[in-house]
Amino acid sequence: MSTTSPSLPLERAAAPAPPQARGSLLLGHARQLQQDTITALAGLSAKAPEGIVGFRIGRSPAIVVSTPDTVREVLIERAEDYARGRRQTRALTPLMGQGLLVSEGPMHARQRRIILPHLSPRQVPKYADTIVAEAERYIAEWKTPQEVDLVAEMNSMTMDIVTQLLFSSSSRDNQALARAITEAFEWEMHALTSVLGLPLWVPTARNRRARENIATIRAWISRFIEERRAAGHDTQSADLLGDLMSTRYEDGSGMSDSLLLDEALTAWGASQETSADAQAWTLYLLGTHPEVRERVHQEIEDRVGRRTVRHEDLAGLPYCMQVFKEAMRLFPPASMIPRQAVRDTTLRGYTVKKGTMVFINAYSLHRRPEVFDDPETFDPDRFERSRERALPKGAYLPFGTGGNVCPGSHLALMEGHLLTAVLAQRLSVELLPGQRIRPHLMVNLRPSPGVEARVCLKS
Ligand code: HEM
Repeated sequence: MSTTSPSLPLERAAAPAPPQARGSLLLGHARQLQQDTITALAGLSAKAPEGIVGFRIGRSPAIVVSTPDTVREVLIERAEDYARGRRQTRALTPLMGQGLLVSEGPMHARQRRIILPHLSPRQVPKYADTIVAEAERYIAEWKTPQEVDLVAEMNSMTMDIVTQLLFSSSSRDNQALARAITEAFEWEMHALTSVLGLPLWVPTARNRRARENIATIRAWISRFIEERRAAGHDTQSADLLGDLMSTRYEDGSGMSDSLLLDEALTAWGASQETSADAQAWTLYLLGTHPEVRERVHQEIEDRVGRRTVRHEDLAGLPYCMQVFKEAMRLFPPASMIPRQAVRDTTLRGYTVKKGTMVFINAYSLHRRPEVFDDPETFDPDRFERSRERALPKGAYLPFGTGGNVCPGSHLALMEGHLLTAVLAQRLSVELLPGQRIRPHLMVNLRPSPGVEARVCLKS
């Protein structure tokens, strides 16, 4: 965690409230947020030339921030004045226990210290072959030409990939588990977004079902840990679970089985949907921009041809990476990062009261016209190396920043780079005409209602 910068004056007593957006007298902006969160947040940010605007959700005060400076102040410079927020913690704890998406303070710092080295740029290339093999296997099973929903397909494909990366296993043929996963994620979304937000112990039918589903998933992953312990394989690291089992704290001890379970589930949950949505948006944007798609195909043909893509090829496929990064600029999967002020503080000289919910709006941050020319246009050349380096600090944050920055960012970027290349190499994808696709924010930003396409395996 970074600490409050001593150079920032704490002018709390004199600080004015931030500019306020007027909402309904009773509900504030609660209804708009429930109906269409991303449009509501983007609308609020549009009214905030300084990148900060206050509003209410019912009686609760909230602010939305959307400029590089305001975002960095919340996530880095004054990070100690904010925590994740009660709602997120309540929604994630039942499935993810005390994993990195829930823990705070010294425990969180200790866990990051031993987990991050296993996801470093030096470590992640060992996962490249698995990612490519899983993607190729998945595609090969399609009977093409076929009409598919790319959102659903990317969801299943990334589920297969992440289950292999973490557990060297598959959840494919386990129908009960697949249903439990889908329903548990749905419950999480409901807990994150519903106005009432009843905790899991309240005995509603929805909660009872959620408890069963969570127990099914946790039992499935516990079994991997138990089997490896029993077989004496707990220090082998062919997959991420193996790494987590072999890693040691400073005093030489390892993680307890219950924490291992929490961290494995957290990595699994944090990586699957984000990667699926990023890839679905990438395919959608390639489908709507034939000139970009043509450049991607040309790059692959020139540098790789028909053989299997390998990690060593990635340096020669810069445009594929630019496409993936630009897709995450326009549609960052984690479009909204929530925080809550844990004490009275200030932000850009405005007062922020303890308890205020803070929405980091990456969707609008990535569309700042003073940073990105013609921000609505899909233009992967923005991420050409020298232009990317010239971006102001904090202007492009698909993985967040500060003490909670995504530990899986290197893995996610490598996976996105590989999948963009492999899918373009193996498939021709034509979007079906007449679709009206909009970004919809549940936990992540997803193309809604789906992306219907005709896919055909290239011979
Ligand atoms: C395209 C893919 C991904 C995106 C867009 C993404 C985005 C993010 C963002 C924005 C955060 C910060 C949340 C915050 O500040 O509250 C985060 C946190 C996290 N991500 Fe990722 N992520 C991706 C893939 C992954 C992968 C592959 C893994 C693990 C293998 C992972 C594991 C995590 C974990 C454990 C956290 C919590 C970190 C903490 O609070 O200390 N993510 N991710």
